[in-house]
Amino acid sequence: MSSRILLSGLVGLGAGTGLTYLLLNKRSPGQVIESPYPITQKSNGKIQPHSFKVDPSGFFKYGFPGPIHDLQTREEFISCYNRQTQNPYWVLEHITPESMAARIADRKNSFFREDEVIPEKFRGKLSDYFRSGYDRGHQAPAADAKFSQQAMNDTFYLCNICPQVGGGFNRDYWAHLEYFCRGLTKKYQSVRIVTGPLYLPKKDPADNKFKITYEVIGNPPSIAVPTHFFKLIVAESPTNNPTREDIAVAAFVLPNEPISNETKLTDFEVPVDALERSTGLEFLQKVPLLKKKALCKEVNCQIVVRDFSNAAIKPSKDLKLLPPPKNAD
Ligand SMILES: *[C@@H]1O[C@H](CO)[C@@H](O)[C@H](O)[C@H]1NC(C)=O
Ligand SMILES: *[C@@H]1O[C@H](CO)[C@@H](O)[C@H](O)[C@H]1NC(C)=O
Repeated sequence: MSSRILLSGLVGLGAGTGLTYLLLNKRSPGQVIESPYPITQKSNGKIQPHSFKVDPSGFFKYGFPGPIHDLQTREEFISCYNRQTQNPYWVLEHITPESMAARIADRKNSFFREDEVIPEKFRGKLSDYFRSGYDRGHQAPAADAKFSQQAMNDTFYLCNICPQVGGGFNRDYWAHLEYFCRGLTKKYQSVRIVTGPLYLPKKDPADNKFKITYEVIGNPPSIAVPTHFFKLIVAESPTNNPTREDIAVAAFVLPNEPISNETKLTDFEVPVDALERSTGLEFLQKVPLLKKKALCKEVNCQIVVRDFSNAAIKPSKDLKLLPPPKNAD
């Protein structure tokens, strides 16, 4: 019984590398795990002994290269910043029926701001967005932080902002999704939402290979334009008996492009596992499977189409409910 898959054996005599790459696919107890790294072999098959040591970690005496995930805790959200893409990895926020009911802050008093906490050379600049053609898209929405002007101001820091397509997306479908999230506080006592960018591969018709391509805006080009955005929603209603509490979960991934109002929200729902694979993040791993319920089985996951184009000035009266999805259960 072989527990190893020989990915590429001593192939390529011409190449003369003589390297064996092993991938362990199954480990039985007590089994000696062989190094997955190349091993120098003599022609008789014996491993070459050597008397010297190499010390890669000695590099750290010059300084640890990172990555450094700038974590910032604000009143309504916590953000984790990616210095390479100059976008957040994720922004998580908390909304409740009470926080939604308190309407103190006014968006007119808030202005977009560069984040002084991020070192200058990694910091997204307001000028990078200028004439880029993209909106400065909130990850934690300003409208979720109306309970205090300070909290709302914070949402305008660029650590909470990604370049988003404006018409048809940020000002339309994405805004409808944010509105849907706020509506969940009518049913649940506590709603936590993780929002962030994605850079997903797409098949290139020229050669049928999967590639990730995204625009980079700014001068010099520095802020990545995500291909997609995700929202992971976790809703709960705490009781006196925490051991019996379930959480209602849904994850959505939307393309950063105009989306027709007729598209069903459930078309964008993805398994949390798939979201983890594409973000490299881990979500809800401390919650037993049985305690994770499907949000879209508890509520009707659909958007309400409103005109948000002048929402900053006055709420729209144009409120129209989309018909429920045909195959809704
Ligand atoms: C919010 O931001 C505006 C504009 O920078 C500023 O004038 C105001 O004092 C801020 N409010 C709070 C409470 O921080
Ligand atoms: C969706 O509907 C709103 C409100 O009627 C409208 O302003 C918007 O342009 C529509 N979005 C798209 C992508 O057609």
